[in-house]
Amino acid sequence: MTRTEFLKNLKLGGGALMSIYCMGAITSCANEDTPLPATSTNPDPIKNGKIDFTLDLTMDANKALKADGGFLYNGNIIVARSKDAKYIALSKICTHVGTTVEFQKDTNDIYCPNHGSKFDLTGKVTKSPAPSPLKMYQTELLASGTKLRVYEA
Ligand code: FES
Repeated sequence: MTRTEFLKNLKLGGGALMSIYCMGAITSCANEDTPLPATSTNPDPIKNGKIDFTLDLTMDANKALKADGGFLYNGNIIVARSKDAKYIALSKICTHVGTTVEFQKDTNDIYCPNHGSKFDLTGKVTKSPAPSPLKMYQTELLASGTKLRVYEA
């Protein structure tokens, strides 16, 4: 049963439903159908002081990376699959004031929802106010494409 179905079963009117949604009885007023980027459950992304982790693409937690335009976060890294099926990995921390960036499928780039900075798939700033690029990491498909390694060169 969804949150909406549960509240409808209480036989409350629309105004009462909105009050319950937004008074804190429910923790968010967001549309329950809005998908959020998956968060990987992978272990510590740092090995020997450097970024180095491998995502199992057969796991549900990483299924966002099975489709072009999908992305997820692991630690402070955003990992995305571009429109042309290339894997990219960048720091997820915007260089302006540190907001978590997002991959945008339509424009095939990285966007910061805080002040609108944009970055290309190498992390280069294409729209300010971000003052410097996002750090880029290497990606490598392993095990016949079922695993994706992200690492610092
Ligand atoms: S924090 Fe990203 S543009 Fe300001």
